[in-house]
Amino acid sequence: MVALARSTVMPSPSDETSEFAVDVLKGLSATRKRVSPKYFYDAVGSQLFDQITEQPEYYPTRCEMRILQDNAADIVKLIPEGAALVEFGSGSNKKARILLKSAPHLAAYVPVDICGEMVEQEAAELRPDFPGLNIHPVTADFTQEFELPEEARNAPARIGLFPGSTIGNFEPHEAAAFLRNAAKILGPNSKLIIGADLVKPAEVLNAAYNDAAGVTARFNLNVLVRMNRELGATFDLDTFEHHAFFNRERNRIEMHLASLKRQKVKVAGECFEFRAGETIHTESSYKYSVESLGALARGVGWAPSGVWMDEDKYFSIQAFTLTEAGSPKP
Ligand code: SAH
Ligand code: AVI
Repeated sequence: MVALARSTVMPSPSDETSEFAVDVLKGLSATRKRVSPKYFYDAVGSQLFDQITEQPEYYPTRCEMRILQDNAADIVKLIPEGAALVEFGSGSNKKARILLKSAPHLAAYVPVDICGEMVEQEAAELRPDFPGLNIHPVTADFTQEFELPEEARNAPARIGLFPGSTIGNFEPHEAAAFLRNAAKILGPNSKLIIGADLVKPAEVLNAAYNDAAGVTARFNLNVLVRMNRELGATFDLDTFEHHAFFNRERNRIEMHLASLKRQKVKVAGECFEFRAGETIHTESSYKYSVESLGALARGVGWAPSGVWMDEDKYFSIQAFTLTEAGSPKP
């Protein structure tokens, strides 16, 4: 109960469900059917993502953890005394833990995630390990504006953390919108530490999204399970297949669910037709370079202020400082 009393809960489940229904109906009505990747993350989807991070082919988590471990002392120099660390899409908190250990001068940690169960549970597990730190989980959609808890609003500075290359799951214009929103949420003089996956040979990328154990396939298909449960949909899981491939022109992995036959499926009372081979595009995972992410951030008022990479240059952690131009106008 303590965890609930200390947290900020945003929309009620019914709001979330109706937003899910509206988004899905719109996405499935498009010429190229699509569903936003943010709907992967119900309780089961969050657990499946955690299992993905343990697959031998999925290098991003291991690379990012290593970069954080090797450079934590340097990275936390960006964090002023008494600041609040706000993590967007915190999931299992394992990356923040590394920074929290190296930054005893932090006053508050605010993990933000769309998966309410996950963010509450992980915060409860973190508290005993950091007894002096104010930990305030927030259940929110980080593509929308939301209010930070009082301790974070009143801190002398707010530092954003956006690890995991979750920024890659946005279209580039959505990534720019996220960076503008982060500036509004964090306020003037803030900094943002972003984990971004880098362009690399296609074989490495394709293997990472087609693990041999089939966990990524289950993660992808779980969005259909969620639609069946929450939207009364009639997807037959045996007739849809996981497809993931690197699109070289657009520097992104695309994940799709392909219909194995011609069929009709009901979703939230509406009927959708699928041709054999037709897909629902469920996720893009853009791969950046230091220059391309820097240019995107600079364009919306975040100045590059630090880069850390692994030896193979598979993954990057990039820091940005909010400039006058990017600061929210009063
Ligand atoms: N930061 C963790 C988890 C990355 S997985 C890591 O690096 O391993 C992406 C996380 O972002 C999930 O926990 C998911 O629930 C959350 N997420 C995805 N879309 C979101 C949105 N629109 N708003 C808030 N959280 C979101
Ligand atoms: C959270 N996000 C950055 C992961 C990615 O790599 O794009 C989600 C994921 N999708 C398939 N595997 C992992």
